Amino acid sequence: MAILGIETLIYGVDDVGKCTDFFEDFGLPLIDRSAERGLFRLAEGSNVVIRSINDPSLPTSEVKGIGVREVIWGVDTAENLEQLVSNVAQEVEVRRDADGTAHFLTPCGLPMGLRVFRRVPVVTAPDALNSPGRVNRLNSHRRWRTRAVPKVINHIVFTVKDFDASFPFLRDRLNFRLSDYQRGYGIYARCDGTGNHHSIFLLNAKLPLPGLDGEVRFHHVNYGVEDIDEIMVGANYMQRRGWAKSHLGLGRHRIDSALFFYLPCPAGGEAEYGADGDQLDDSWIPRDWVEPGFGYIFFVHNMPAFLDAEPAWEVKYLDGAVPNGQPLEKRGAGA
Ligand SMILES: [Fe+2]
Repeated sequence: MAILGIETLIYGVDDVGKCTDFFEDFGLPLIDRSAERGLFRLAEGSNVVIRSINDPSLPTSEVKGIGVREVIWGVDTAENLEQLVSNVAQEVEVRRDADGTAHFLTPCGLPMGLRVFRRVPVVTAPDALNSPGRVNRLNSHRRWRTRAVPKVINHIVFTVKDFDASFPFLRDRLNFRLSDYQRGYGIYARCDGTGNHHSIFLLNAKLPLPGLDGEVRFHHVNYGVEDIDEIMVGANYMQRRGWAKSHLGLGRHRIDSALFFYLPCPAGGEAEYGADGDQLDDSWIPRDWVEPGFGYIFFVHNMPAFLDAEPAWEVKYLDGAVPNGQPLEKRGAGA
């Protein structure tokens, strides 16, 4: 059974027109827009739908506020879709559409769905890097870009009330693999049909971070581009278009090694340009990030105050998780 990744994201927003404008400038390929809906489709075939937060078609869930109000996971075959639906239905109620799409709430109240996904393979060719003594690009300049065009949806992040308790449903009903465990912060997990380090991050809603208030909320989506140049061309274009500037600016996470650039998003939370993240398979051994700040940021342009002192280099393999990505039972105090 393989879930390939995110097939569709449905946002519920305050201003459909403004949010559609935002994602057009962000670089998502627009398929259709009206007063009621914006629809974008990325190169891999995944969809981003913008609707009013008051649209009656949005599922009722535990999620508070604007942002992604349903995430539809894409399944490789119709047969596997039925197996997953029957597995999910053992634990929660499942509603089916005429086209076979399944809708449900996870036990922690996240609105999800399943649908067959004819994912289009996306192949990119980043410019080669030169470094002292290593010439990979001779008499050839890097490509000059004018716009960023995200090609894939890499991951989604929700804040949840108890990430330890929220993860087993993803593992046991949807076959997600544990990638990494960040103490006090959350759990990174990937679909079984993708190599992306994580398809979802369950973030601790009780952390004293901006925008977190202990409630289940949408946090951000990572939209994948090719390389650092595409990230920064996109960021500069968004600034020229007058959208709110990034707080952190360009940076790289240590967990998953990915370059990031978060932008405040009128559709809720943030929209993240991402590139150069780690790719995993089932031989990956999940890690226990003892010092969360160490894992969070490797480097960043606008360094937050909590990084004024170098964080402790504390990380180890996750006990009990080796070798197949099965996490510990409910983790105890200090986790
Ligand atoms: Fe992210």
